[in-house]
Amino acid sequence: MNRNELLKIKDETYKCFDEKSSIDLNLFESIIGYDDIKKIFKMSLSSDKAVHILLVGPPASAKTLFMLEFLKLERSYFTLGSHSTKAGMIDYLFDFRPRYLLVDEIEHMPYKDQTSLLSIMETGIITETKSQKTRSTQLKTWIFATCNNKEKLLSPLLSRFIIFHLKPYNLSKFIEVSNGILIKNDVPFDVANEISHVVWNKLKSRDIRDCIKIARLAKTIEDVEWIAKTLNQYRK
Ligand SMILES: Nc1ncnc2c1ncn2[C@@H]1O[C@H](COP(=O)(O)OP(=O)(O)OP(=O)(O)O)[C@@H](O)[C@H]1O
Ligand SMILES: [Mg+2]
Repeated sequence: MNRNELLKIKDETYKCFDEKSSIDLNLFESIIGYDDIKKIFKMSLSSDKAVHILLVGPPASAKTLFMLEFLKLERSYFTLGSHSTKAGMIDYLFDFRPRYLLVDEIEHMPYKDQTSLLSIMETGIITETKSQKTRSTQLKTWIFATCNNKEKLLSPLLSRFIIFHLKPYNLSKFIEVSNGILIKNDVPFDVANEISHVVWNKLKSRDIRDCIKIARLAKTIEDVEWIAKTLNQYRK
């Protein structure tokens, strides 16, 4: 594979924001709640030594949102577990020496790629042998990752993370998060509040994405009621 092909794969796999930003500037501004976890992340960012953190949680619990917030930091790289290949990732680490490696949906990372993270996480050392030549370097890279479940993750990998299990939202958190998102997106309070309650009480959904979907369709409280009734009629 030539250099251009390699760079293309890297570009598809990673996004890089090289803008300067400080830990305090707007970090986590898009995320409602989780103040304790935000605090731990900030502690990790101010640590002299790398502290790796894994968020495990149900769908729509803001895991990807956390990863996207870290893209605001200088020298941060985002990758999906399913898209990272060992060769691509190692080359990228050698070339760009990221400080923060963000791996969303890490449970989809094949075992051999998970293995390549073990040494980076423990000692920062990465080694690669290509065409009978070995190169190695040492990085200081924090790894922040997410997954829905840990079953497909190697035990030594899990052992290197501080792990947070995000719990499903309870009613008051659900309303707070849903109303917060919708109001930020210019949905009037009464419509937003109706959507949040209808999704929880009538659709019995616990998925914030359902609130966002309905908000994109509805202009009035009557619209919300009608959409909920229709969705219920077509439910299995
Ligand atoms: N606490 C929250 N603050 C702000 N937005 C939230 C919060 N929780 C959920 N959301 C919203 O829910 C949607 C899904 O969030 P996100 O993609 O981060 O979920 P996820 O945990 O990565 O889910 P999945 O496991 O399905 O990938 C987004 O639109 C996001 O804005
Ligand atoms: Mg996600």
